[in-house]
Amino acid sequence: MIRAGIVGATGYTGVELVRILSGHPDVTLTVMTSTQYVGKEMAEIYPALRQVVQQPLEAFDPDRVGDRADVVFTALPHKLPMEIVPGLLDRGVKVIDLSADFRFKDPVLYERFYQPHTAPGLLEEAVYGLAEVFPEQVASARLVGNPGCYPTCALLPLIPLIQTGLIDSRGIIIDAKSGVSGAGRAPSLKTLFCEVAESFKPYNVGVHRHTPEMEAVLSRVAGRPVHITFVPHLVPMSRGMMATLYAPLKKDAGLGAVARAFQEFYGEKPFIRLMGQGGIPDTLNVRGTNFCDIGFVLDPDANRIILMSAIDNLVKGAAGQAVQNMNLMCGLDEKAGLSGVPYSL
Ligand SMILES: NC(=O)c1ccc[n+]([C@@H]2O[C@H](COP(=O)([O-])OP(=O)(O)OC[C@H]3O[C@@H](n4cnc5c(N)ncnc54)[C@H](OP(=O)(O)O)[C@@H]3O)[C@@H](O)[C@H]2O)c1
Repeated sequence: MIRAGIVGATGYTGVELVRILSGHPDVTLTVMTSTQYVGKEMAEIYPALRQVVQQPLEAFDPDRVGDRADVVFTALPHKLPMEIVPGLLDRGVKVIDLSADFRFKDPVLYERFYQPHTAPGLLEEAVYGLAEVFPEQVASARLVGNPGCYPTCALLPLIPLIQTGLIDSRGIIIDAKSGVSGAGRAPSLKTLFCEVAESFKPYNVGVHRHTPEMEAVLSRVAGRPVHITFVPHLVPMSRGMMATLYAPLKKDAGLGAVARAFQEFYGEKPFIRLMGQGGIPDTLNVRGTNFCDIGFVLDPDANRIILMSAIDNLVKGAAGQAVQNMNLMCGLDEKAGLSGVPYSL
């Protein structure tokens, strides 16, 4: 059995990790930390977990975590993981970090959009945890930087078409929408009910921190600099993420080639559901699951492909992909603990 620990277990991604790992056949959850709920049971904060998770939350202590866990998930706001991860690695623990602290290879890029990095030496070693695209690297890693939710939702439909040269990478537009849990559980005016209900709005237009993350990965895959236009939107639902992407199709590329590229790339991948030409994903159909549903349509007059991708921002966009990465890092079945049947409504 793999012994797993969660640092920051009471946040939205933390509790999703607790939910998934509690049902994982090969894992025992040995330690869960918090700062404000030390000594309390998870069910006191999330009553849905009553009679499911009993052990109390504890304060973070690297020695105790190191002694009792083989794998640790850090589900904390960025800036905190880079302070504690080096100590955990030194204690022989494998780490999957859900923040942005280990997603960038270039510390300068990280520092431009976040803050000075206190463990830049680990960025070269850290593996970007897009499980379907970098499975071998993830399998041999001791430190994985789990991708952001928007990058996961947008990169999965884009990468096969960039890699096969079927689209022109100079005209990519990403128009994405996220449910409110994307902002986390920390109270803020922006996420109060009266601020989000009946509201649908773009935010951080042209300045969102996931833009450089996506450009870094696309440039790596394309082998040349790729710049994108990304506009995130907040929608009044608790969880769910939809990305609609527009890209110029190369002159000699047809929809048959697009369908083949997706099939060759993801045909064997358990969590990518290809809906093909005319397929319209819906966040309702991926809710609570680790699935990414992908469909596409051609705009013939503009010779532009319209890609559509739906995930659950807390599962495939965070906790589910993190567990998928743990499965790969620990030589387990990639689907272990993640094969719950989706809600039908
Ligand atoms: N929400 C999403 O859809 C999503 C998707 C992908 C990635 N992420 C990333 O995942 C990370 C966690 O996000 P989240 O949405 O779960 O955030 P959240 O709901 O705000 O939870 C943050 C967690 O961190 C702990 N925490 C906060 N400040 C702390 C401090 N100073 N010291 C120690 N612990 C502290 C909190 O627990 P206590 O208050 O009990 O300490 C809480 O458990 C973030 O880096 C986020 O960018 C989030």
